[in-house]
Amino acid sequence: MTSTNDIRRSFLDYFERNGHSRQPSAPLVPQNDPTLMFVNAGMVPFKNVFTGLETRPYSTATSSQKCVRAGGKHNDLDNVGYTARHHTFFEMLGNFSFGDYFKDRAIELAWNLVTKEWGLAADRLTVTVYHTDDEAFDLWKRIAGLPDSRIIRIPTKDNFWAMGDDGPCGPCSEIFFDHGDHIPGGPPGSPDEDGDRFVEIWNLVFMQYEQAGGEIVSELPSKSIDTGMGLERIAAVLQGVHDNYDTDTFKALIHASEEFSKTRAEGDKTASHRVIADHLRTSGFLVADGVLPANEGRGYVLRRIMRRAMRHAHLLGASEPLMHRLVPALVAEMGAAYPELVRAQPLIEATLQQEETRFRQTLSNGLKLLDEATASLPEGGTLPGETAFKLYDTYGFPYDLTEDALRAQGLAVDRDGFDKAMAEQKAKARAAWKGSGEKASDELWFDLAEEFGSTEFTGYSGHEGEGVVLAIVRDGQRVESARQGETVQLLLNQTPFYAESGGQVGDAGKLTSLKGFEGEVADTSKPLGRLHVLHTRVARGEVSVGETLHQSVDEERRRATRANHSATHLLHAALRHRLGGHVTQKGSLVAPDRLRFDFSHPSAISADDIAAIEAEVNWHIRHNQPVTTRLMTPDEAIGQGAMALFGEKYGDEVRVLSMGLAGERDYSVELCGGTHVSALGDIALFKIVSESAVSSGVRRIEALTGEGARQWLLARDQRLREIAASLKAAPDEAPARVAALVENARRLERELAEARKALAMGGGAQAQVAGPEVVAGVNFLGQVVEGLDPKSLRGEVDALKQRLGSGVGALIAVNEGRASVAVGVTADLTDQLSAVDLVKAAVAALGGQGGGGRPDMAQGGGPDGEKAGEALAAVRDTLAKVTA
Ligand code: ALA
Repeated sequence: MTSTNDIRRSFLDYFERNGHSRQPSAPLVPQNDPTLMFVNAGMVPFKNVFTGLETRPYSTATSSQKCVRAGGKHNDLDNVGYTARHHTFFEMLGNFSFGDYFKDRAIELAWNLVTKEWGLAADRLTVTVYHTDDEAFDLWKRIAGLPDSRIIRIPTKDNFWAMGDDGPCGPCSEIFFDHGDHIPGGPPGSPDEDGDRFVEIWNLVFMQYEQAGGEIVSELPSKSIDTGMGLERIAAVLQGVHDNYDTDTFKALIHASEEFSKTRAEGDKTASHRVIADHLRTSGFLVADGVLPANEGRGYVLRRIMRRAMRHAHLLGASEPLMHRLVPALVAEMGAAYPELVRAQPLIEATLQQEETRFRQTLSNGLKLLDEATASLPEGGTLPGETAFKLYDTYGFPYDLTEDALRAQGLAVDRDGFDKAMAEQKAKARAAWKGSGEKASDELWFDLAEEFGSTEFTGYSGHEGEGVVLAIVRDGQRVESARQGETVQLLLNQTPFYAESGGQVGDAGKLTSLKGFEGEVADTSKPLGRLHVLHTRVARGEVSVGETLHQSVDEERRRATRANHSATHLLHAALRHRLGGHVTQKGSLVAPDRLRFDFSHPSAISADDIAAIEAEVNWHIRHNQPVTTRLMTPDEAIGQGAMALFGEKYGDEVRVLSMGLAGERDYSVELCGGTHVSALGDIALFKIVSESAVSSGVRRIEALTGEGARQWLLARDQRLREIAASLKAAPDEAPARVAALVENARRLERELAEARKALAMGGGAQAQVAGPEVVAGVNFLGQVVEGLDPKSLRGEVDALKQRLGSGVGALIAVNEGRASVAVGVTADLTDQLSAVDLVKAAVAALGGQGGGGRPDMAQGGGPDGEKAGEALAAVRDTLAKVTA
């Protein structure tokens, strides 16, 4: 038997041998089309090559493209499990010509592959052409030698293929395989064509036109070819089975599902096993391409698919979560062709397990409600929309899951009633909503959120992408367009620009359109927590609502911000480790050039602790462990040891970031919606540059990483070199030399002070001496000293008293115009004389007030230093009077 993996390889080899460039599958999330939920055909990644917007270094290509059809124009979800050939995930084999070959070569290549390489009998093949396409009709006749009866003209859109309402399109020609008359059904175009006997295996599209809004608007620059062959279908044909689910890959997945659920894929269990196998592939591939379950957008499609499978696992009686146990089988089957599955295996398993554990908590209650509600319904009845809404709102049953559950019983759901209940709930939410106070602008954003729902952030894995402009806001008003020079706020349906939240600053970057618009995004914010708003200056051209823009985040800035954000998590963990579990985050700022972290801690952090914390963070950076992201409920996250940010509100889902290893455990586990490095080594370097107090009990650390930290260290080093140069010493000797210099300077200062004093007391130039003399029989010595420290006045007057033996000493110190005076009287004279009286006379002369002390020593001062001589004279006069 030819395995599915062999068939894929053989297809790609064949076209490569025939000159085609072999291209890897693009990710499932379209990189080049903001209107498309998932890549749904092999040509999607080449869309802009067909329309001439983009050129590639090759003009023909071949690929095996991952596709998901579960919503939008091509939606197979509802049928999966109940038919032989519907899948939500499938692989499309294709060959493409971009203005190279056209119909004849395409038909020839296709015919040769199926009949010569793969040996399918020509008489089992029938083809269709678009009813007016005589050229294709003739080519099939000539190249394949098919009789007219097996070249069927089809007048419907079945033979006119379009990617969607917008994009390239053209007439097509399909090859059908006849599985044999034991299966009911007629050839295409016949009344019983819907039977299963004739199966389309290959669609050759003759790309010629471009559509917009469902109408053909122009011809493509050159005629091109796009073909698509479902790998699962051709595998069934080549493996001699009729049903895609009987091919090797599906058999292996169903086998795993049988084994782990301990049930056989027989009878009424068949559909459940098929749903599980199909949805396992879709879930695994979507998670591997960065989609995680959510309540909106792509994440919600994934959640619907996962929950649909999980209900079937429940139907099979699985008592434990089942889906994650099947992932190894998926990786074994498909990991070689799609290495992203191998890389993402742990994330796929964890995501499925979390989702199933969570869903199972409400699943049985929801099913009970459903049973009760349907018990009273007649055959072919309709479930009220309100019940479907309750199931959705309270038990997490997506609408289509309810529909799927009722399908087997032949019951329907009232969709209108469901929509009405949903609208009522929204109206209630609006009535209950309180804005931030800025009424007008709050209302504007609220209206936008209601009209468009949340906008999607696509920037966890990349920094570029397309987006459609949903609204333009200028000065608080919605406008249709914005011109050069204007500054506006742009709302796009999806964006790689991170909007400021959780301390991380908003992204900046550039916007462009094909019409020549250029916008500079200075910042991104997130009103209501769910609209990404790009603050944009129109640098060139014009932008209008409805246009598709190319968005490109300033990568350098984002890279630096990412490093700072991850470093903040490491710092938080290191602080707790070193200082204790009382450390909790009180605030943070994560900018491209720095990070700031505020946390509870009662006292300043010692230099030793800072050094240890810094060393611990750098240790983790050097060990370069990958950073992992998981999605779970807030409670689950906290159960796993995540540090919750007290007081913050979280939605149903939180992202949980784990980084570093501490023994067996993750070193840091935090809830965080920010952008992070993929491995810790990307941070490169971590340096704390300051530690300070913010308020009582709250400390702040500021730090740098990567290039910022390196620049900071360089600047420090440069300063050390400058110091060393001034010292004429080597940098290493600088500290000892500076210490010696400081010591020397202190000694010199001391010596200088001594010398000044000695000079002053020795009667230098500034001293005005009055005495020694004898005044009314008493020895008197008075002196004015410039620059003498007033504090040493008393000591100096005591010294005078000693010198005099018996008498009165008076000293006036003059400093910056002010005078201080001290007068001393030796003990033998205090009966007749008081130093207080004498000092008062001096103080009065100096323009001051008071003066006091004891009879043997009194002090005072005044502002008029220039009257020091008069003050001394006043002391002398008072002395003369008292003793007379
Ligand atoms: N793009 C074409 C299809 O999807 C080949 O059928």
